[in-house]
Amino acid sequence: MARVKRIGLLTGGGDAPGLNAVIRAVVKTAIKEYGLGVVGFLNGFGGLIKNQARELTEKDVVGILPRGGTILGTTNRDNPFHYPVVKEGKKVFVDVSDRIFENISIQEVDALIVIGGDGSLAIARELYEKGLPVVGVPKTIDNDLAATDQTFGFDTALTTAMEALDKLHTTAESHHRVMVLEVMGRYAGWIALTAGIAGGADVILIPEIPYQIDKVVEKITERGKQDKKFSIIVVAEGAKPEGGEMVVQKTVEDSYDPIRLGGIGHVVAQQVEEMTGKETRVTILGHLQRGGSPTAFDRILATRYGTMAVNLIMEGRFGEMVCLSGTKITSVPLGEGAGKMRQVPLDSDLIRSARQLGISLGD
Ligand code: F6P
Repeated sequence: MARVKRIGLLTGGGDAPGLNAVIRAVVKTAIKEYGLGVVGFLNGFGGLIKNQARELTEKDVVGILPRGGTILGTTNRDNPFHYPVVKEGKKVFVDVSDRIFENISIQEVDALIVIGGDGSLAIARELYEKGLPVVGVPKTIDNDLAATDQTFGFDTALTTAMEALDKLHTTAESHHRVMVLEVMGRYAGWIALTAGIAGGADVILIPEIPYQIDKVVEKITERGKQDKKFSIIVVAEGAKPEGGEMVVQKTVEDSYDPIRLGGIGHVVAQQVEEMTGKETRVTILGHLQRGGSPTAFDRILATRYGTMAVNLIMEGRFGEMVCLSGTKITSVPLGEGAGKMRQVPLDSDLIRSARQLGISLGD
C-alpha cells in the first residue's frame, strides 16, 4: 500500500454526463474505504496552477449522482506546459508546471486523479513523467479515446441524439421532408453511427468514410420510389466528402485542441435539397449532447472508474489510467490512451449491421 493520506481530484476538458458520478465515487471510496482526505481543484488544470481548491466531504457529494456537468468546474484551456502569459505587452506561452508541484505540496496532496479526455490525460502523463503521482480516468462524449472500450458520457450523448431522431421522424413524416441531424464526435463517428442505428436513420455520414453526395441522393430517391416520402440523415460534425475537407466552425486559441468543427449539416442539406427537390431542414444538436442527467450505463461506468482510480492510488499504481476492457474495469499506462484517438474501425460490426439494414453510409 502506498502511504497516501490525502488525494486531489480535477475534471478537465469538455464536460460530459457522469463527471459528478466519478467525483462522488472517488470521494466516497477515499473517505469510507481508506479514511483519506479529498481536495477538489477547481476548473481543470487552472485550479491546480492557481491553487484554487476546496475540501470535498461526503456531504458535498450528496445528490450529485444524477446531475450533469461537474461540481468542480472545467475548462479545455490552461495547459501548464503551454500556459499563456503577457510579457512586454505580448502573449507568450511558458511552462508553469512547477507551480503545480508547489500547490500540491501546499494542499498536502499525496496523489492526483485527473478525469479528462485525450488533452487532459496527455497533460496528466507529462506531470507523471515529471514526478507527480497521477492516475487518469477517461472521459468524453465522443468515445474516441484509445485504450478503453468506452468512455463515460458517450452513452448519454448517444441517447440524447437518438431521442432527437425519434422527434425528427414524426415531423419529417408529416411534412414529407428530409431532416438532417448534425451530431458531435470530433474526428470519430461513434455518436453518429450508434445514434443513427438506434434512431432508424436512412443515411449516416461519419468521418471514417468520406461520402459522395450522389450516393446520399440515390438513397433518398430510392426511398421516394418505394413511396417513403421522408428521409433522415445523421451527419457527424467531422464528416467530409470524398476528396474534400471537414467544415471548421472556428478555432479557439489556447485550447488543447483549438479546432471546433461544425456546419457540415448545412452543406449536406443544401446539396440534398438542390439535387432532390425535396424540402430539407437541418438540426444541429450541439451542446445538448453534453448536458442532462447521465444514463444508468454512464452512472455505473463512471462509478466503477471512480472507485478503481482510488484503488490504483492505494496500490501505488501511478501513471496508469482506468479503462473498460470488454466488461471488465482494468487499467493501462497513461501513455496508451493519452493523446491517441480511436475512430470507428472500418471492419466494425456496427458498420456491417448498418449496411445490412440498408442504411447508406454515403459511399
Ligand atoms: O470533445 C467533446 C466535444 O463536445 C466535441 O464533440 C466537440 O467537437 C467539442 O467538444 C466542442 O467543444 P466546445 O465545448 O469547446 O465547443
